[in-house]
Amino acid sequence: MTDTVLIAAELAELLDPDPVPGAQVAWLASGSPTPAGAYVGLVPLLSRHVGAAELERLPQLRIVANCAVGVDNVDLAACAARGVVVTNTPDVLTAATADLTVALILAVTRRLKEGARLVEQGHWTGWDPRQLLGFELAGATLGLVGAGRIGRAVGCRALAFGMQLCYTAREAKREFERETGAARLSLEDLLARSDVVTVHVPSNATTRGLIGRDALRRMKRSAYLINTARGDIVDEAALIAALEDGRLAGVGLDVYQREPFVPDALVRHPAAVVLPHLGSATVRTRRAMAGLAATNVRAVLAGHPAVTPVGA
Ligand code: DGY
Repeated sequence: MTDTVLIAAELAELLDPDPVPGAQVAWLASGSPTPAGAYVGLVPLLSRHVGAAELERLPQLRIVANCAVGVDNVDLAACAARGVVVTNTPDVLTAATADLTVALILAVTRRLKEGARLVEQGHWTGWDPRQLLGFELAGATLGLVGAGRIGRAVGCRALAFGMQLCYTAREAKREFERETGAARLSLEDLLARSDVVTVHVPSNATTRGLIGRDALRRMKRSAYLINTARGDIVDEAALIAALEDGRLAGVGLDVYQREPFVPDALVRHPAAVVLPHLGSATVRTRRAMAGLAATNVRAVLAGHPAVTPVGA
């Protein structure tokens, strides 16, 4: 019997016509439950939870090739217990996600949402030297919460704007420090010192809620918070309260606690720029993500090691 791989239907147009030669593809419609069956591979989007219940229904499964760098939608321990390989799509989305992070930094510090609204609503009456004055990045401090590939790429981009860098990480990133002058700080110190704080840690048991009420209180009232990582790292209710109380200058968000739900308080707030999880949304990157997921499936089904495995 020919092996069959379940692949998220949204990836069809991003993949080559025969993504896993020798295997059949069953396209998995978004919103539909993960079906039971003798599927040997699964390529889900980040919105599909893959836990013990799903694995129970897929007894022949050999690989979950998540089409995302984040794997918080996949129960890694349950996969490991069943010998199912998990892979993700690192590197290929670093530049696109770092670019979007910088776009959000500029959007909030230069008040682009308020400016666009002014024009769209026909309220702009002409150049005014006092109008929508923003915050200048040159000489300001950018705090990278997490200095993995994306965090470091954001840091390198921020240097071009004349920003000073600090970062948190479990281990010092010496090369990054040498190249950028970045200083490694505790989270508390980074929050207190930074003019712009940007979140680049994965979502897991230790980072969920990391930027909560206490963390937000440590930030300068004039500071901005950016999150292009995962929504649950920031406590959304605490963030809204901080914004509404004027304890933060602005926020730029691409991710949310309960996607696709975006709290109305954020949508309406003039100092909150909210995007629909666009971090990796370029043609090149999305094709590369889908292609890397398929490459991982091909490797594992051929009995080779995965190209980008994720440990439990
Ligand atoms: C990822 O890959 O985890 C991103 O959130 C998708 O852009």
